[in-house]
Amino acid sequence: MEAKTIKKIGVLTSGGDAPGMNAAIRAAVRAGFYYNLEMYGIYRGYEGMIQNDIKKLDSKYITHVLERGGTFLKSARSDEFRTPEGRKKAYENLKNHGIDALIVIGGDGSLTGAHLFFQEYGIPAIGLPGTIDNDLSGTDSTIGFDTACNTAIEAIDKIRDTATSHDRLFFVEVMGRDAGFIAVNAGIGSAAAAILIPENKTPIETLVEKLKTRSKAMKTSNIVIVAEGGKSGSAQEIADKVKKFLPYYDIKVTILGHLQRGGAPTAFDRLLASKLGVAAVEGLLQGKYDVMAGMINNKVVFTPIVKAIVDDKHVDDEDLRVANILST
Ligand code: F6P
Repeated sequence: MEAKTIKKIGVLTSGGDAPGMNAAIRAAVRAGFYYNLEMYGIYRGYEGMIQNDIKKLDSKYITHVLERGGTFLKSARSDEFRTPEGRKKAYENLKNHGIDALIVIGGDGSLTGAHLFFQEYGIPAIGLPGTIDNDLSGTDSTIGFDTACNTAIEAIDKIRDTATSHDRLFFVEVMGRDAGFIAVNAGIGSAAAAILIPENKTPIETLVEKLKTRSKAMKTSNIVIVAEGGKSGSAQEIADKVKKFLPYYDIKVTILGHLQRGGAPTAFDRLLASKLGVAAVEGLLQGKYDVMAGMINNKVVFTPIVKAIVDDKHVDDEDLRVANILST
């Protein structure tokens, strides 16, 4: 597409926050200043776009944010933006500010919004993959995924200490919505006895047999990672079922929950977010619209948003094979 003249870019974060979002905003804003653009912060995602919660940014907004978790622009999931009336209000507000392009940092719902908006109003938009779930195609890793895995592993290490002291079996539930990426990485990285992910259905009998074998092998503690959104049920439901088969096990359940979303981004996420923030601005200036900037094999790649949000990124079979070998 032929590049339009862009002078003012609006940046927003939307959906579930992810560590590294601040680093991505900061990189996009710095790159914008580098190219003599005016940069605007749109607060609370699409909700702020509809309610005109938009501020012109200067360098003080982005000082000391790279290293902080969360998003200083705040985030929200906007039901109103799903309606044509909501999007019209949002468009009017952008027009009044003279904002002629958008950088949307978020997950699949947020990027879908950017795509729709581009289709309806022709506002050039680039998405950045900002979600701990890692469930977007067009990038090896999403911003926040690495930090979330590190946080989960650190938490599971602590659970391991107490599990070992008491010879207990723990079921630890991790986030990921309907994807098992965090579960698989955290499971391999914390020597889990088993990893249950939404992509596969593990019969309860198979899990029970595995735990019995490990018990015979005198493993003093066992940790089973359960991804939320799995077909076999929540960690608590699975624990209850297992207890019926293995009444002698002292079973506990821990849900890691939103702690996986917080904390300072890892070096990996800071670098990824910084590179993609710059790529977003440069992509817009080069006329790359309705695409997501991602990183594949350490190279920036622009993928049409409609392709990035299609659910075709799967947990690697090789990772599952390794996890299985290591937990036998
Ligand atoms: O998409 C990120 C995520 O943290 C998912 O892993 C989780 O299912 C969901 O958001 C939780 O959303 P909320 O913060 O709205 O409860």
